[in-house]
Amino acid sequence: MRIGIVGLGFVGLTFASTLANRGYDVIGMDIDKAKIKNIESGKVPFYEPKLENVLKNALKKKLILTENIEEIVVKCDFIFLTLGTPMNKNGNIDLKIILTVCKKIGQSLLKLKNRPTIIIKSTVTPGTTNNQIKKILEKESNKKVGKGFGLITNPEFLREGKAVYDTLNPHLIVIGSNEKYDGRKLEKFYNKFHNKKNSIIITNNTTAEIIKYANNSFLATKISFINNISNLCQTLPGTNVDQIAEAIGIDPRIGNQFLKAGPGYGGSCLPKDVQALIACEKSLGVESALLDAVHQTNVLQIQKIIKLVEKTLVNVKNKRITILGLSFKEESDDIRESRSIKLIEILLKKQSNITVHDPKAIKNTKLIFRDKISYNEKIVDAINDSDCVILMTPWKQYSKLQGIDFKKMKNKNIIDTRRILNIHDNDINYIGLGIGY
Ligand code: UGA
Repeated sequence: MRIGIVGLGFVGLTFASTLANRGYDVIGMDIDKAKIKNIESGKVPFYEPKLENVLKNALKKKLILTENIEEIVVKCDFIFLTLGTPMNKNGNIDLKIILTVCKKIGQSLLKLKNRPTIIIKSTVTPGTTNNQIKKILEKESNKKVGKGFGLITNPEFLREGKAVYDTLNPHLIVIGSNEKYDGRKLEKFYNKFHNKKNSIIITNNTTAEIIKYANNSFLATKISFINNISNLCQTLPGTNVDQIAEAIGIDPRIGNQFLKAGPGYGGSCLPKDVQALIACEKSLGVESALLDAVHQTNVLQIQKIIKLVEKTLVNVKNKRITILGLSFKEESDDIRESRSIKLIEILLKKQSNITVHDPKAIKNTKLIFRDKISYNEKIVDAINDSDCVILMTPWKQYSKLQGIDFKKMKNKNIIDTRRILNIHDNDINYIGLGIGY
């Protein structure tokens, strides 16, 4: 059996590398020539812990790369589509990339004798596989799904920063197929790959698509919920949102994960998926008040931080403000929809002088702000002479900072949006977001 992976981002490259590492014949495809070159030389084009070693081993084994989609269609039994489905300006999902690829796959299928199975791992809005992907594939190939090729919706749940672990240890596999045969084939494949009987839900394509959106939207709902409670705590002296999260998290009906209050959720998935589900619901005439509120709460959360800075510094104009953490989460260099980027944009409009530190995301941030802000390799260099430090991303190294690291600040104000600092120094004005003073 040979496996094709189309689109080599977090999901695709991790999947291709772990499969090849376990002895599968894998062809990875991407249209980005520079990216392919990098990967061929063993370099991961983004920061993902542990992936580089896995990739290097995979290249020694059975991972080969191509820019040619036809090669994948002709040679592979399973064709996984792990392409990005970004958000357009209206918050709708942009399916251009995946539909264009499906058109090309359909054209390659036309001349083919084998019957490959096409597996949609990309996040696509409910109805996309049946109403758009299937139609394009059938039209271009002149073949019917089920007979000429298999078509499965198989959403991915891995987290950035834990991509290798999650690929090898998925908590759930969802297989959406309108043909029983294909679903069972993929189920067998996954059980063999993971060398165990996975927890698998087999359903139809559209239900599988909804599961993915429901999952991410529920996670976003938990975060917005706890951020709402965090804002309440902020106004009531003696309260701390973490204690409340701990208490409600003990109730097994609630669970303790995704209850860390902070500056709001970012990244390439949660913000995009909540908005895409809202747009999808609206287009179908479904009431979306809950998700509207989840999204709005997230958008407004950054204003809470701005208010805190303005209360602390009175006037932020010409003040030197340090941002610790630029990536949307720790162990990542990804700044897509990062709350830090939004915060910097607002503070720059208010004419603050911004200085930043991040262990991995400086390079990506420079592409946005260039020389409008200053960048530091060392944390203390970012802190020295500052009027206010705002800790945004909970990188481990920040939690180790001590009072002494802040002693050269011009004015010793710290706003810790993740409450990870442990500083008890009377000289320092420490404000934890979600703590009432
Ligand atoms: C998310 C989902 O967690 C994955 O299951 C899913 O596969 C992925 O999207 C996707 O659809 O591809 P990811 O974007 O890597 O994964 O990031 P998360 O770990 O979910 O974090 C998202 C944001 O929420 C981050 O900004 C994080 O700091 C924030 N967050 C998370 C909180 O503010 N509080 C929490 O308790 C948890």
